[in-house]
Amino acid sequence: MATYIKKMREKNGSILFLDAGDLLSNSFYLSSHKKKGLEKKADLIMKSLDKMGLDAFTPGDFDFILGEDYLIKKANEVNFPFLSANLIDRESTRQLFGTCLIKKVGNLKVAILGIITDQLTQKFFSQNPNLLIKDPFATAKKLVQKLEKRVDLIIALSHQGLPNDKKLARQVSGIDIIVGAHTRSRLREPIVINNTIIVQTGGKGQQMGRLDLNLINAEKPFHLISLSRKAGLEKQQGYLQKEIDHFYKKSEGNDPLKFFKDDKVSLDRLNDLLKKRGVVEEKLKNFQGDVHYLNTFIPMGKKIKNDPEINGFIEDYKQDMLKLRKKELSESRKRMEGKSAKPGERLGVGGPFFVGERSCRKCHKKEYKMWKKSRHAKAYQSLVKSKRHYELECIGCHTIGFEKKGGFRRLDRMREFKNVQCESCHGPGSLHRKKDGKIIKKVAQSTCLECHNRERDPDFNYEEAVESISMGKSH
Ligand code: HEC
Ligand code: HEC
Ligand code: HEC
Ligand code: HEC
Repeated sequence: MATYIKKMREKNGSILFLDAGDLLSNSFYLSSHKKKGLEKKADLIMKSLDKMGLDAFTPGDFDFILGEDYLIKKANEVNFPFLSANLIDRESTRQLFGTCLIKKVGNLKVAILGIITDQLTQKFFSQNPNLLIKDPFATAKKLVQKLEKRVDLIIALSHQGLPNDKKLARQVSGIDIIVGAHTRSRLREPIVINNTIIVQTGGKGQQMGRLDLNLINAEKPFHLISLSRKAGLEKQQGYLQKEIDHFYKKSEGNDPLKFFKDDKVSLDRLNDLLKKRGVVEEKLKNFQGDVHYLNTFIPMGKKIKNDPEINGFIEDYKQDMLKLRKKELSESRKRMEGKSAKPGERLGVGGPFFVGERSCRKCHKKEYKMWKKSRHAKAYQSLVKSKRHYELECIGCHTIGFEKKGGFRRLDRMREFKNVQCESCHGPGSLHRKKDGKIIKKVAQSTCLECHNRERDPDFNYEEAVESISMGKSH
C-alpha cells in the first residue's frame, strides 16, 4: 500500500488518502489475552498510515476497542487529523476529535468531514460510557450548508454503514463523495444518489478503493458520468453492431429487413438486435457530461511491493510480539509449577478429543505418508518462519483443535496440536483410535473452506485441491 500511494503521489499530486474507520479491530469481543497483542498492532497500523501520509481518518466503533483514551493519545501522536463531528465527550460536552479538514488538492478547495453512526449497540455504550453521539444527519446537514459556499468539493467520511450512507445522500444535498465504512460493503461500482457518489471497499484491508474523479472545467451541479458503466454500454453496443453487420453482409447490399423477410427466425433476430441497439444508444445519450469518475479496487496482495521502512516497523512489531507471548508463556508455566498438568488441560470434558497424527500413523501408514508430503504437514513451520506462531489470530488454521472442544487454548500446550493434521479434516479421533470408534470418513467441502476461505485462499478450487492432496482416490 505504501509503495502504491508513494507512486501515485509522485505521478500526480492531486490525491487524497482517506479512511472511514474500523482500522484497528473487527469486533469488540476480544479476550484480554488478545487485547494485549492488539495494542501493539494498533500502534503499528497508526504508525504505518502516518508514514504513508494518510490525509484524514474517522474512527469507527471498533476502533474504540482499546478505549477512548488510547485513540485520543494516538490522535495527538500522528500527523493526520481524526475527524468526527458528532462524537461528544459526555463530561466536557466537547467534541472528542476534529470536525473537518479543508485542504487544497490540485487547484480545488476540498472539505473532508467525519461522522459516526448513532445506531450502536448497548455493548458499545457500556464499554464507552463517556461517549455521546449526536444525530449524524442533522450534524452533517448543518456542516454542509456552511461549507458549500466556501469549498469546491465536499467529502464525508461516514462511519455509518451503507443504508445510512444512502440516507445521508438523500437527506443532505451538497455532499459530493461519501466514503463509507461500518458494513464492509464491497461496492465495485459506486452508488450515485442525489448527485453524491458513495464508495465503500469491503473489509479487512484486502483492497484499497481508488476513485478517480475528472473535474476539469466542471461546474456545479455536476453531471456525473460513470466511466465503467459507459464502457460497459459501449461494449454492448459493439457486440450488437457486430451481429447486425453480419446480417448486412449476408444480404449482399440489399436491405436486410427485406432480404430476410421470408426467413422468420432471422428476421426476428435482426429486429431484436436493432431494437436492443436502439435502447443502448438511447442510454448512451445520457452519458455525456462533464464529471467523469472511475472506481477501481487495488488488491493489497503480494503484487504490491513492500516499503522498506514500513517493513522495518513490521519486523519490530513481530519481535515485540514474540517477547510478549514468551513472557506470558513463562509466567503461565511458573503458575503451573508444582501442579501436575492433567490431560484435562484440553478444552471441554467428555466427548472425543484431539490426539494428534502420531496416533493415526501406526494403523494408516499409506495415508500418513501422503499427508507427510503435503504442505498441511508443514503448516505450523510456515508460521514459525514468518515469526507469527505466537499470534492467536493465525494459529487456528495452522494447527488442530485451537479453541475447539477437545482441543487446546494455551500456547504452551501446543505440542501434538501443531500443523494441519488428519484430525483437521476427519475430526477428533480419541474414540476411533481405540476400538471401532467412528470417525468422519467423508470430508465435506465446507471443512476445507473453514480454512481455505475467501480471505486466505481466494483461488481455492475444491476438486483440484482434493486431487492434489491425493485424499480422494487412493488415500
Ligand atoms: C488401532 C488402529 C487405528 C488407529 C490408531 C486409527 N485408525 Fe483409522 N481406521 C482403522 C481401521 C481398522 C479402519 C477401517 C474401518 C473400517 O473399514 O470399517 C479405519 C478407518 C479410518 C477412516 C475411514 C473411515 C471409515 O468409516 O471407513 C478414517 C478417516 C480414519 N480411520 C482416520 C483415522 C485417524 C484420523 C486416526 C488418528 C486420529 C486414526 N484413523 C487412527 C484403524 C485405526
Ligand atoms: C485446519 C485448516 C485447514 C483445513 C481444514 C484444510 N486446509 Fe488445506 N491448507 C491449510 C494451510 C494452513 C495450508 C498451507 C500450509 C503451508 O504451506 O504452510 C494448506 C495448504 C493446502 C494445499 C497446498 C497449497 C496449495 O494451494 O497448493 C492444498 C492443496 C490444500 N491445502 C487442500 C485442502 C483440502 C482439499 C482440504 C479439505 C479436504 C483442506 N485443504 C483442508 C489449512 C487447512
Ligand atoms: C482462516 C484460516 C487461516 C488463518 C486464520 C491464517 N491462515 Fe495462513 N494459510 C491458510 C491457508 C488455507 C493457506 C494455504 C493457502 C495458500 O497457500 O495460499 C495458508 C498459508 C499460509 C502460509 C504459507 C503460504 C504463503 O503464503 O507463504 C503462511 C506463511 C501463512 N499462511 C501465514 C499465516 C499468518 C501469519 C496468519 C495470521 C496473520 C495466518 N496464516 C492465518 C489459512 C489460514
Ligand atoms: C486436508 C484434509 C485431510 C487431511 C489432513 C487428512 N485427510 Fe484423510 N481424507 C481426506 C479426504 C478428502 C478423504 C476422501 C474422503 C471421501 O472419499 O470423500 C480422505 C480419506 C481418508 C481415509 C479413507 C480412505 C478410503 O479409502 O476411504 C482414511 C483412512 C484417511 N483419510 C485417513 C487419514 C489420516 C490417517 C490422515 C493423517 C495422516 C489424514 N487422513 C489426513 C482429507 C484429509
